[in-house]
Amino acid sequence: MEIKKVGVLGCGLMGSGIAQVTATAGFDVTVLEAEQRFLDKGFSGIEKSLAKFAEKGKLKETPDAIRARLKGTLKPQDLADCDLIIEAIIESVEEKRKMYASLDAVVKKDAIFASNTSSISITELAAATKRPDRFIGLHFFNPVPLMALVEVARTIMTAPGVFETGYAFAQKLGKVPVRTSDKTGFIVNRLLVPYLLDAIRAYEEGVGSITDIDTAMKLGCGYPMGPLTLLDFVGLDTTYYITQVMFDEFKEPRFASPPLLKRLIMAGWFGKKSGKGFYDWSDPAKPVPQDAALQGVSAERAGNVAPV
Ligand code: CAA
Repeated sequence: MEIKKVGVLGCGLMGSGIAQVTATAGFDVTVLEAEQRFLDKGFSGIEKSLAKFAEKGKLKETPDAIRARLKGTLKPQDLADCDLIIEAIIESVEEKRKMYASLDAVVKKDAIFASNTSSISITELAAATKRPDRFIGLHFFNPVPLMALVEVARTIMTAPGVFETGYAFAQKLGKVPVRTSDKTGFIVNRLLVPYLLDAIRAYEEGVGSITDIDTAMKLGCGYPMGPLTLLDFVGLDTTYYITQVMFDEFKEPRFASPPLLKRLIMAGWFGKKSGKGFYDWSDPAKPVPQDAALQGVSAERAGNVAPV
């Protein structure tokens, strides 16, 4: 099946990134949101990102030509003739199932449905539609325009041709797809989440300060970001949600949320997007580690220093 027109559900961090790379690859894209202000915010991020790529000479076309293939809408009917729908709304089984069930009635019968979920069961979402054989996971990574990987996940109901169409679509975006199956967390989060949670536990146990832990993993292992910076970057709320789903699935302590992560969530410290997490992001270029607040000691005693 040939994919020409793509619908993206949600224009947040992931949805806008997916819409951007899909339009950049030459597809017509319509993004569905619940409110105009979410579309405006997402499209403004896309324009900034496209301008940055253009500045570096990394686009084959002008940002305007790419932007012209991108439309925003508040009406599900505008997605009726899409060949592929990629959902990137809030990580909530109920919200996603509701969204798929309503679109199932509107979008043409042979269109493929895909979810960008990082932890919710694709099988559970597919079962909310009348096209479970035409349902896959397409899991992108943040920031979508820069990260090369897409995990392509099949369920036991996915038709082989649909799975391969999803795989080929990811390649057409210029991404590197990997094949995986509907096992909670797929490949990346199965390995990444215990590592991130261990970093929080190490911090709770006083193994090192926020800066020490991040610097150690950056310089000792060559990672682009330390684990606590990455947590702020991914979103502590998102990570907390993922741990709940993964713990519920596997009942293994390594997937359980450390108490500090839960405290940060209750305080509304979701990381970079909310302004505060393990770091204060008031100036995104100079994040300030929050050891003092998290340990209840003075900044001096906590050894607050800027990360490398
Ligand atoms: N669009 C265009 N350009 C962008 C951009 C965007 N959205 N975001 C950043 N850039 C540009 C920056 O402006 C910068 O440009 P200059 O060199 O001209 O200054 C360039 O890209 C490099 O960025 P940075 O200087 O910020 O730093 P970097 O070299 O560290 O690269 C990074 C950034 C690619 C994000 C890198 O830090 C990295 O790979 N970090 C790890 C990210 C990661 O692990 N993501 C996965 C998270 S897990 C997940 O998403 C899935 C899940 O289910 C939870």
